[in-house]
Amino acid sequence: MRDETIAVHGGYKAGPDRAVAVPIFQTVAHHFDDAAQAGAVFDLQERGFHYNRINNPTVDVLEQRMAMLEHGAGAVALSSGAAAVRYSVRNLTEAGTNIVTTPYLYGATYTYFAHVLPQEGVEARFAADARPSSIEALIDEHTRAVFCESIGNPSSTVVDIEAVAQACHRRGVPLVVDNTVATPLALKPVDYGADVVVHSLTKFVGGHGTTLGGMVIDAGRFPWAEHPERFPMFNRPEPAFHGVVYARDFPATAYIVRCRTVGLRNEGAALSPFNAFLLLQGLETMAVRLERQQQSARVVAEHLARDPRVSWVQYLGFPDDPNHELARRYLGGRYPSVLTFGAAGGREAAVRFFDSVKLIKRLVNMGDAKTLVAHPASTTHRQLDEAALAQVGVRPEMVRLSVGLEHVDDILEDIDQALAAATG
Ligand SMILES: Cc1ncc(COP(=O)(O)O)c(C=O)c1O
Repeated sequence: MRDETIAVHGGYKAGPDRAVAVPIFQTVAHHFDDAAQAGAVFDLQERGFHYNRINNPTVDVLEQRMAMLEHGAGAVALSSGAAAVRYSVRNLTEAGTNIVTTPYLYGATYTYFAHVLPQEGVEARFAADARPSSIEALIDEHTRAVFCESIGNPSSTVVDIEAVAQACHRRGVPLVVDNTVATPLALKPVDYGADVVVHSLTKFVGGHGTTLGGMVIDAGRFPWAEHPERFPMFNRPEPAFHGVVYARDFPATAYIVRCRTVGLRNEGAALSPFNAFLLLQGLETMAVRLERQQQSARVVAEHLARDPRVSWVQYLGFPDDPNHELARRYLGGRYPSVLTFGAAGGREAAVRFFDSVKLIKRLVNMGDAKTLVAHPASTTHRQLDEAALAQVGVRPEMVRLSVGLEHVDDILEDIDQALAAATG
């Protein structure tokens, strides 16, 4: 099946009820035949559902669908994208270890790495930029993962995933890629060597600003068994789950089975079946939504670029954008519908623009059917000081637009009146 078909049908086969929509299994648990069968499910010898913190049939369809779209071997759904980021890293780290990351990150991911992970004894090493050499230089024997956003939010920095994955694998370390902004329709990091893919489903997958959700997807290829010293959690009997040795017992899915049976089972950020259902609805129309939003984003970017009240526009589809070559190579022409621009007049003009939009919604989300505006320096990246803002690629005058499904002329008219208000 092609992507558009997977998005509609992947992972679902109707039961005897012949329901055409994936049913919402709104239940906490599933009953067993007898003690022997219950034991087999608990020992992971029999695939089945038992308690819905760990798995659920509705959520399972979404997991399978996302794994198919990302060319992964398995996936775990979580209650938010932030939980997905946390679980992806926690499945690899312990006190005394480190991760290496590019600096071009969503604000809460940056804060989590910079301030929360160190409280757990895990160091996050920020590379100076996204170049493979800058990242590789920070990897040492205590490094458990390299993390990046394939397209940074909101900096739109594109990472050369293939080169970074090669650098990681030379050093025996997996690459974890947050692919939220790119979406699996434009880019599949696993095809370029990524070992784990993370998503906030809240954005383009859900697509209507109704539902939080996250996903961790395992490529199923990293040779954990070849690195027993670096990855003891996959190579020693797991005390938190019946003494399973993940790399031995689940050679093709060690990472994701541990993420479910240790991470999700013990920390519990489960996605609700109802939210999984809503996210499945979103996924079914994602391809057509993205196509329209990407078309409109180009029109908006070109309109802004012609306007003297705008000092710069960052849109990956522009040939002179510093990230254009990488974007062209990795996105196959599907440039994101999220773009940023600088209001001439600096931070104050950006804030006035933000305050003046009428149709466009002022909020911190993206990928919605509605066009959204954000001023990252006063919201998502507010906690960052000036040096940190520069490090993550957020300028004070930066305005971020996530272009929605309204008629593009209505979007342009709102932008024009807000620019007029912003610049007097
Ligand atoms: C790239 C990226 N990753 C992760 C997240 C966190 O996702 P959520 O808001 O679903 O927790 C976001 C949220 O904006 C994001 O933009």
